[in-house]
Amino acid sequence: MKASAARILVLHGPNLNLLGTREPGVYGHTTLQGINEALTALAKELPVELRIVQSNSEGALVDAIQGAIADCDGILINPAAYTHTSVAIRDAIAATGLPAVEVHLSNVHAREPFRSHSYIAPIAVGQICGFGPDSYLLGLRALAGRLGK
Ligand code: DQA
Repeated sequence: MKASAARILVLHGPNLNLLGTREPGVYGHTTLQGINEALTALAKELPVELRIVQSNSEGALVDAIQGAIADCDGILINPAAYTHTSVAIRDAIAATGLPAVEVHLSNVHAREPFRSHSYIAPIAVGQICGFGPDSYLLGLRALAGRLGK
C-alpha cells in the first residue's frame, strides 16, 4: 500500500501579501504568488501536500494553526512581524504538538536588534533565514525530511 503524503500547513504572516513591491531592497522582487508556486512545485516532487494561508491578522493565524491539529503533520511558517511579538502564535504552535519550521526571507539577525528575538524559535524544530524565497524551499525540504518524506 502507498503511504499517504505528509500534509503541511504553510503560513505567511502580515505584510507578506505585499511581497514584490514591499521594500524590494530587503525582501527582493518575488511575489507571494511566486513563492507559493515554487513551494507547490517542490511539494509535488517531495511529495507532500500543502495548505497555504496568508493573513495580516494574528487571530486568523492562530485559528489556522489550531486548524492544523485536525489534518496536518507539520507547519512551515513565516510569522513576519509577529515573530517578534506574538506569544499567542507561539502558544498555538506549541499546542498543536506538530513540528514547525520558522522561515524568513531576510537575515533577521543582521537587521535591527529587535528582529533577532523570536518568540517562535524556541518551540520550532529550527529557523532558516536570509536566503530570500529559498528560505521557504529549504524549510519545506527540512520539514519534509523531519516527517520522513
Ligand atoms: C520577515 C522578517 C520580519 O522581521 C519582518 O517583520 C517581516 C518579514 C522576513 O521574512 O524576512 O515582515 O519575516
